[in-house]
Parts: sequence; structure tokens; C-alpha cells
Amino acid sequence: MLEAYDGVFGKGGDDDDNEHRSSRGDGRRRRGRRKVAMQRHVAYEGRTPEDVETLRMERMREARAALGTAAGDFDPDDFRRDSGGKRSKKKKRSRDSSSRGGGGGSGVERLMEGCSTLEWHAYHFPNCNEIHEIDLRGAVRRQLRHDEGGGEGSSHSRYHELPWGFVGNGLWRDVFSCDPRGEAPGNASTPRPPAVLKVMKSEHTYDHRNFERHRRDALVMERLSSSHHLVSIYGYCANTVLTEAISHTLDDVIYARENEEVAKWSPRSGYVTRPPLESWMAKDEDGEPLATRETELGRIRLALGVFRGLKDLHEGDGAGNMEWLPIVHADLQAKQYLVDSLTGKIYLNDFNRCRFLTRKDSTKSGNGTGIPTSRTLESCPLYIPTAPGSARSPEEYDMAPLSEKLDIFSAGNILYGIITGNRPWSDERGKHIRAAIQKGERPTVNDTIRNAAGTVDAELTRLLDRVYEHDPTKRASAREVVLELESLLERELRRKSSMKTEDLA
Ligand SMILES: Nc1ncnc2c1ncn2[C@@H]1O[C@H](COP(=O)(O)OP(=O)(O)O)[C@@H](O)[C@H]1O
Ligand SMILES: [Mg+2]
Repeated sequence: MLEAYDGVFGKGGDDDDNEHRSSRGDGRRRRGRRKVAMQRHVAYEGRTPEDVETLRMERMREARAALGTAAGDFDPDDFRRDSGGKRSKKKKRSRDSSSRGGGGGSGVERLMEGCSTLEWHAYHFPNCNEIHEIDLRGAVRRQLRHDEGGGEGSSHSRYHELPWGFVGNGLWRDVFSCDPRGEAPGNASTPRPPAVLKVMKSEHTYDHRNFERHRRDALVMERLSSSHHLVSIYGYCANTVLTEAISHTLDDVIYARENEEVAKWSPRSGYVTRPPLESWMAKDEDGEPLATRETELGRIRLALGVFRGLKDLHEGDGAGNMEWLPIVHADLQAKQYLVDSLTGKIYLNDFNRCRFLTRKDSTKSGNGTGIPTSRTLESCPLYIPTAPGSARSPEEYDMAPLSEKLDIFSAGNILYGIITGNRPWSDERGKHIRAAIQKGERPTVNDTIRNAAGTVDAELTRLLDRVYEHDPTKRASAREVVLELESLLERELRRKSSMKTEDLA
């Protein structure tokens, strides 16, 4: 039992979010550290306070490297806009207790003059009782019973469904599937756990900044609970959130072939190759997987899933019952979307790097046309002083004023994967990628795809160009992309049904 917990906590930081740190040497060092950590700590309880402190410092460095300034502790006045992002010497802010001393900090967003937050930006709705009543130990026990018995030994067979107990982790959280109300049937063939509990990893500091990060994560899901394109939230308390459980990530779907061939490390199963998509994704009436990049319709549907989630995040759920300004996800990658293998539906997830755009005060009244929304309100620019990794937009690398359009550019990397099946910039190294993006270079789509006029892929590539547009003000919005994809889907469905009719005739 304790060893199982060590599997969970001991390897905590070596997660998929750390993909940003691309150096091979780093990977070896990490594996080395992991091995030492595992030898030293047979059980979680065996960690000394010094070990925890060392891990905590390491995690803080990793967090900064991967996510940069993710929480709202950034003072735009302290930022020289035309200096490539270097801090102004004159206004150098001492990092004392009022800023982010000791890795913690106020976590309170500093507002630019003439800008204000929307009222709901400050809300939070904790329901801690619900969270504290969850029998997590029961879920882990169930996982151990399941792993030991019933011939479920192979990682391949386990991969069909979401496992019980520990599922995986990102940079911030360990994720456990569970049955919060004890309503799932008790036999071993239970198809899937209903919920996941996402708990901040023990090595991260329990401070205001992280509290703020997870408050925003929960608030986004709460505000958009009527959206069909975001993960549903069931509960939240401090740095822990309870959400609906969803079996796979979009990365699993897009890169299914790569994952079949190349063994990848996962905190749950170690280095393993994955079973083919056909073996775990449900099929439609024509026998095609419900989510796949290997058919034209499949590629359109995946792209729609990506941009529909983003549209709701940027524009609200369309109910028009509250003021809305775009929420910027700021960390979009394929693994931040979840895909349900039973329905093929795609859900946007993981909002703890998100930022709420603020309102320009001059547009406060929303010109008397009902509740002001992202289309009637003007937003203030956003500043994020760090842009780690290779999945960011040129304006983030340029340290320029930002808007929700940065998400559109990052979603372009996902669209590129959907069209080509390749990871963007897979042959290049980090620094070069960043410089190339700043210069206006983009991952290339092969000319045969691009020039095959009238085909779905040529249309998707044309959209990709609009999404990868250098100037954020000219870049397509999520709404525009969704509209284009919907008409492309309609066109293809019509074409498919007329082909069927011809076949029957
Ligand atoms: N609702 C969920 N259902 C199933 N697995 C999930 C769910 N949410 C997250 N996961 C798994 O946990 C991983 C980390 O979750 P994420 O929300 O990205 O946390 P972090 O903030 O640590 O990045 C995901 O990549 C996914 O594999
Ligand atoms: Mg994540």
C-alpha cells in the first residue's frame, strides 16, 4: 500500500507538463533523481522535512520554467514594454513579503490604471464538506485490488478505461479517480469511475498564490458549467478540485500511432507503448472511431472540439446572463483537452494558468444593450512576463501586450497535429523554435496537403494559416474558426450522404 503511494507521490514532478523542458540531458538527470528518490523513499512517510523542502524548491523552479508567471502577481507598471521584457532598473520592485517573497505572495492581481475586474472574477464557491467526505483510500484500495486480480495485469488492458485510484498528474496536481457518493456499482467490471479528485502535489507551497491559481481553475468551470465543451466541476476546496472523470486526453487521440510505436513514461505505468486507438475508442454506425484524426470527418470534429471549448472560454457560454470578458487559458496544448472514449466528445480542461481579462473603464456601461459581453466590452491588455516552452504565440515571446488571441495561436499547434499527425517543430530545439516563431516562421504543412484544392485538409490548412497569423489583431477568433469548421462539417456530411445514396441507387 505504501509503495503504491510512493508511486504516486515520489515521482510526482516528472509529468507530461514538463514536456516544455526539452533537453535530453535534463531528462537523464530527472530519471537519475527519480531513481535516487525512489531508493531513498520506500514509503511516502519516509521523507524527511529537508527532502520535502528540496523537492519543493525544485518544483518551484520547474513551475517557473514550465509555466512562467502563471498567477496574478505581475505588476504591468513594473515592466518595460519596449525592452524585451526586462525589468526597469528604476522601478525594480523588491521581492519582499508584499510581492512574492518565499515563493508565495499575495496572488492579488495588480490592475492597470483605467481597468477593472468584473464582479464575478473575485467569487469562489468552496464546498469543502463534499471534498472531505470522499473516500480516497477506498479508491486506491480498489485500484490495488483491480491491478492484482482479474487478469488485468497488462498496461494495455488497463488503458481501455480510466483506472481507479491514481490516474496521472500534471505539473501541479495528482489526479485520483474516485466515487464521491459511493454510487458506482461495486463489482470489478464497473466500467468507469464517475469523478476525479485533483489534489495539489504535496511539494507545492500551500500559499495564497497557489490558492488563487486553483480558485481561478474552479471558478472557470463553475461559470461555464452550462458549456458542453468544458469539463464539469463537482466540488472545490482550497487547492483541490473534484471534476467529472474523462477517460483520455486529446494528445492520446492525435498521437495514437506515435504512442503505439514509442514507449512513453507515465507516472502510473512506467515506460509503456499504448494499445491502438481502435481498441479503446467507441465506434459510430459505420464502424469508424468516434474520435480520430485518421478520417476527414474525424479531423474536422477534433478541430471543432478544440475551438468550441476555446470559444466558450473567450465568449462565455452564450446564455448572456452575466458580464463577460475573455478568459485566457494561456497553456493550451493537446493534453489540456480530455476526450471521452465512449462518446468521442472533447472537453477543455486545466485552467490554473488562466487569466481573466479586465475591462477598460470607458466601456463600463456596455452601451445599454443588455448585459455587456465580450463583444460589447473592451478589454485591457494583459501582460505575462514569461513565455516558457515552444507552444506560445509570437507576442508572448515578444513580451508584448496580450489578449485572448494568444490561445488561438497555441490552438494552431493542436490543429497542426490534427492535420499532419506530427508534433509541431518536432525536429527543432527550444531556443531556435522561439526565434523562428518570433520571425514569423511556422511548422510546415506539406505541399501535397496544402495544394489539394477543395479537400478537407486543404481547407483545414487554410484555417491553420489564419490561426497562425502573426498579428494577433488579424488572427481569426475562436468564433470565426468554429463557424468555418461547422460549414466544412456540413459540406462533408452532405457529400458523404449523397455518396451513400448513389451507392444504393
Ligand atoms: N477530469 C479528468 N479525468 C481523467 N483524467 C484527468 C482529468 N483531469 C486531469 N486528468 C489527468 O491528469 C493529468 C493532469 O491534469 P491537469 O488538469 O492537466 O493538471 P495540472 O494542473 O497538474 O497540469 C491530465 O493530463 C490527465 O491525464
Ligand atoms: Mg495540465
